[in-house]
Amino acid sequence: MSIQAIVLLGAPGAGKGTMAEAIRGATAFIHVSTGDMLREAINAGTPVGREAEVFMRQGALVPDEVILKIVMARLEQGGPDALYMFDGFPRTLEQARLMDAEFTRRGAKLSHVFLLDVSRAVSLERLGGRRICRRCGANFHVRNIPPKKAGICDNCGGELSQRPDDSRATILKRLEVFQQQTAGLVAYYEKRGLLQRVDSSGPRDETVADIMKRLQ
Ligand code: AP5
Repeated sequence: MSIQAIVLLGAPGAGKGTMAEAIRGATAFIHVSTGDMLREAINAGTPVGREAEVFMRQGALVPDEVILKIVMARLEQGGPDALYMFDGFPRTLEQARLMDAEFTRRGAKLSHVFLLDVSRAVSLERLGGRRICRRCGANFHVRNIPPKKAGICDNCGGELSQRPDDSRATILKRLEVFQQQTAGLVAYYEKRGLLQRVDSSGPRDETVADIMKRLQ
């Protein structure tokens, strides 16, 4: 056995985190979300967190060298036959190339890259209505995936709040950054025969079922 991995690629609000949460509950995949790792670093006040916060607040990408450092550290923890599900990584051609080089060095295999496809209008609507639990990080949407009690997490009773980068202006910037710096990865993985397009605009459970079927 060797390390195997899949990638969830998609614009802000495409549903990467939502899919990852569902898939990891039904499989042995270890969920690696660079966005979550950076938010944890910010909350812990680490040097990585302090550096990342400046970029994240503006909706810009965090420099590749910072991202690669945290991802490589994560790979060291999983063991030689771990299954990884990357969410929000890679995000630039440089990250993808360095990930490939590292996978070759370790004899690891990238098996699927799922492009979660949604329109700009869907991204805007989803991010504007997203609510996150301050305590356990669970993800809701005020209309699409509402909590049983408004403002309260179903899982732990924690308070729900908006992510700091979910203001309208920062959402627009993140969508622009996706087009400029990440959309090029679609052609990169298409050429290598790894890309699978998934319509992510329907109900959550339908998209989860679609991905699970393709993973079998
Ligand atoms: P990150 O946290 O990765 O944010 P993002 O890519 O902008 O994506 P989001 O988390 O906003 O959206 P998502 O696709 O996960 O959607 P979700 O499932 O939450 O990154 C944040 C920042 O960190 C970046 O801007 C950058 O600064 C930095 N960063 C991170 N990784 C980096 C990297 N590799 N390189 C450089 N910088 C990096 O869904 C959204 C909402 O829709 C939720 O409310 C959800 O409940 C709802 N929803 C989801 N699916 C459905 C559905 N099927 N139907 C209805 N509602 C749905």
